[in-house]
Amino acid sequence: MARKPLMAGNWKMNNTYAEAVVLAQTISNNFDKHWTDSVDVLVCPPSIDLKPVNTVFEFDHQPIQIGAQNVYWEPKGAFTGEVSVPMLKDVHCTCSIVGHSERRGYFGETNEDVNRKVRALLDGGLYAVACVGESLSVRDEGGAEEFVCAQVRAAFAGLEPEEAGKCVVAYEPIWAIGTGRTATPEQAQDMCAAIRATLADMFGAETADEMRILYGGSMNVGNVEQLLAQPDIDGGLVGGASLKADQFVQLVKACL
Ligand code: G3H
Repeated sequence: MARKPLMAGNWKMNNTYAEAVVLAQTISNNFDKHWTDSVDVLVCPPSIDLKPVNTVFEFDHQPIQIGAQNVYWEPKGAFTGEVSVPMLKDVHCTCSIVGHSERRGYFGETNEDVNRKVRALLDGGLYAVACVGESLSVRDEGGAEEFVCAQVRAAFAGLEPEEAGKCVVAYEPIWAIGTGRTATPEQAQDMCAAIRATLADMFGAETADEMRILYGGSMNVGNVEQLLAQPDIDGGLVGGASLKADQFVQLVKACL
């Protein structure tokens, strides 16, 4: 089955309010809405910018999705500093990134937390972009595949196949994030194939075949085509290059 690619920009903790609006507007000005017939496009700004960024896209009738970079699993209450699924839904988010390696590494997010967040998103009608990826030391020790596939199993534990089928996996080797050092297309493909095999084992081949697996880690206009040419890579989760409107638009066009 042919999967529709997804090109996602993760702005991380970048841009002031004004800069976020200018970036969204510049993307919109250079975006042809018909592209989304063949590629889904997602922008994940900081939470404080979700509403203004979405307002730009909606005002321009651009079918560009917005998603959060993180979410908490409880719907409301005394959880200072957190943002809930209903709050994301209210500003028209379609999804949230969960389990990004920066959240796991700097903020102690565990596999169990990631699973709770996936569950909460699905219960609220949103989908999860679940990030997995190994450190350089894990790769050098030869345990990358086992490590990453265990993260996949933990993230999606307890889901029904039709729930898992709505979700997206992003394979992001930590050693390639923001370093300019990209995984080779072969390394990325091998891991994405292993992830798909894990999904098939958990949810059946049909569901695994439907699910999109993204590559993330220094994806840019120079390497995107080779990465997208791999059979198990269905798009990108892009950090640095998504902060430049022209580069992000080119990455989207590479999916057409
Ligand atoms: O979420 C995005 C990834 O962490 C990749 O970031 O493109 O800056 O390497 P990067």
